[in-house]
Amino acid sequence: MLRINTSDPSPVSGLSRREFLGYCGTLAAMLGLGQAGIPTIAEAIEQAVKAPLLVWSDFQECLGCTVALLQSTAPTPAQLILQQVSLAYNEAAMAAAGKQANENFEGAMTAGAFWVIEGSVPDKMPEAFAVNGQSAQDILKANFARAKGVIAIGSCASFGNVQAHNPNPTGAMGVRAWLRGPGGIPDAAVINLPRCPGNGEDLVATLVYILVNGKLPELDSQGRPLFLYGKLIHDQCERRAHFEANEFVEEFGDEGSLQRWCLFKVGCKGPVTYAPCPTNKWNGRVSWCVNAGPCTGCSEDNFWNTLTPFGQPVPNVPVPGLAGMSAQTIGLGLAGVTAVGLGAHLVGQVATGRLGKGAPQEHEAVTRKAAGLDADKPAEKKGGDV
Ligand code: SF4
Ligand code: F3S
Repeated sequence: MLRINTSDPSPVSGLSRREFLGYCGTLAAMLGLGQAGIPTIAEAIEQAVKAPLLVWSDFQECLGCTVALLQSTAPTPAQLILQQVSLAYNEAAMAAAGKQANENFEGAMTAGAFWVIEGSVPDKMPEAFAVNGQSAQDILKANFARAKGVIAIGSCASFGNVQAHNPNPTGAMGVRAWLRGPGGIPDAAVINLPRCPGNGEDLVATLVYILVNGKLPELDSQGRPLFLYGKLIHDQCERRAHFEANEFVEEFGDEGSLQRWCLFKVGCKGPVTYAPCPTNKWNGRVSWCVNAGPCTGCSEDNFWNTLTPFGQPVPNVPVPGLAGMSAQTIGLGLAGVTAVGLGAHLVGQVATGRLGKGAPQEHEAVTRKAAGLDADKPAEKKGGDV
């Protein structure tokens, strides 16, 4: 029976029992369990350290997600995953090579490991990526059914990311989209944890969710866990009061920049982007994008095409200080007023909380539609046992 006793040994080397329980408290908050969830989470982690849990494959990407994981600071997801939760195979970080590395991969898959994939699948040009002479497609086909669960970390594995930008020469696709399309598995269950780079805390929180609940988390229409990606960045942002007060950065380096006013007019995509960036951040929760500049919307599928140019405001987001008109409409004159009126009504509902908590899927559809994005795909609910 697990006790909340700070004198017990810590299951994570390099962390005191107090630090370990503090980290469990952080995870409990992310999972919405509150302080009462700490013993459950601590127990789940203590159980997890007893068995190989993760295999990590790199497909077509820049290794940024691995670097982000390795450079997180204590108490860290990296400490948990690398030292304790048995990362059996990772092409960038493992000491093993050649035959030994292959045996580690095989052994962990046979034992029932979760499979974390970083990087996109080059569908049109399979030779663009290969390990041991096997393309990403070969590796997916051979191992998808063997994994206990598949988690796509980062925006490349989730959606293809910038290498999928038009004209997308390699035919880069996210893992889930490839499996469900060219891979021929229409109901392939893949958890997407997009952001660029992917975030180790998202990964650990998702694993702990599965261990605690014995099932996969509920996902939105883009395959993202709702418990992590259920809120707009705009609704969690430290600069939001300036948006409401009509205080905007007009160009980089101006007085508004120095005052840390809202970045909407210089292209911030926070009003249409769902991710936990403002809360769990990076580098030991020290900083995140909007601390320095606009959010580019990198947790959204196809952001590289639909949310560009990055320096332009998102269309059809009503700005309070402009009597509900969007920055775009001010530029276009009155032609867009009808459409913006619709957007103002819908986004206004979100702003007043009527479509906020408890209705994340509707919330997503409404705000995406207001911004002129594809909004009508129904959210999926994947909560199957593992
Ligand atoms: Fe924050 Fe961007 Fe929203 Fe402004 S537009 S409040 S900077 S998320
Ligand atoms: Fe992406 Fe979050 Fe930054 S969605 S652009 S990592 S604020």
